Amino acid sequence: MSDLAIELQDVAVCYRVPLHPTLSLKQYAVQLLQRKAAARDCWALQGVSLQVARGTALGVVGANGAGKSTLLRVLARVLRPVSGRVRVRGSVAPILELGAGFDMELTGRENIMLGGAMLGQSRQCMERKLPAIAEFAGLNGFMDAPLRVYSTGMVARLGFAVATDVSADVLLVDEALAVGDIAFQQQCLQRLREFVARGTTLVIVSHSPALLATVCTHALWLAGGRVQQCGAAQPVLAAYQQAML
Ligand SMILES: Nc1ncnc2c1ncn2[C@@H]1O[C@H](COP(=O)(O)OP(=O)(O)OP(=O)(O)O)[C@@H](O)[C@H]1O
Ligand SMILES: [Mg+2]
Repeated sequence: MSDLAIELQDVAVCYRVPLHPTLSLKQYAVQLLQRKAAARDCWALQGVSLQVARGTALGVVGANGAGKSTLLRVLARVLRPVSGRVRVRGSVAPILELGAGFDMELTGRENIMLGGAMLGQSRQCMERKLPAIAEFAGLNGFMDAPLRVYSTGMVARLGFAVATDVSADVLLVDEALAVGDIAFQQQCLQRLREFVARGTTLVIVSHSPALLATVCTHALWLAGGRVQQCGAAQPVLAAYQQAML
């Protein structure tokens, strides 16, 4: 088996951004038929090549709109690039944008079962794991309440607890820790370090270089959809921080 968990070769992602506000689906359909649905191309990633060895903890930094979430969507196979090659070896557990994959009308318990199913876990298996997940998320009194009554941090706790309960080969984390309180952040970082120690490959996006420095061995700096720098965590994070000041 290859020592590379992730290989990207010249990956490009382009979004279509509508130029005019559309009032209704019907209007949009009419515009589309008349070929008037004007849109602008937004290149979120361009020429991105990357090799990540197994067991690496890669921190991803970059300004707002640099393409970090897009990169994680590509790795999670939520998004297909318009060109380039993507190879991710092994099972993938993604914690993408806040609440992604959750149903706000379902209870915490139901969402745990749903999240587990999406990660390929059986119902019985998830039922066994439920108490430990609720315990880790610190949501014991809220398991039967719908997610819409949770605070932002509570939703993030649940997302992190579910995705990290399954041991995947590659763990993708997008900003999931930012809205958690300090105690939960520490608890999550500890869990992430344990994963990495066991050989899991971690790709984590954060706006806090200080947080990334505590868990990452390597770092990737994206700017305008392109790789600005990639290498050992410390120098890349320092260069990014310097450039942002
Ligand atoms: N669904 C979408 N449709 C159209 N354009 C999008 C979409 N998602 C992202 N973009 C555009 O792609 C670019 C990269 O966005 P992305 O979300 O990957 O940035 P990011 O680095 O995660 O930013 P942030 O730090 O704000 O989370 C931005 O210019 C954004 O406007
Ligand atoms: Mg983002």
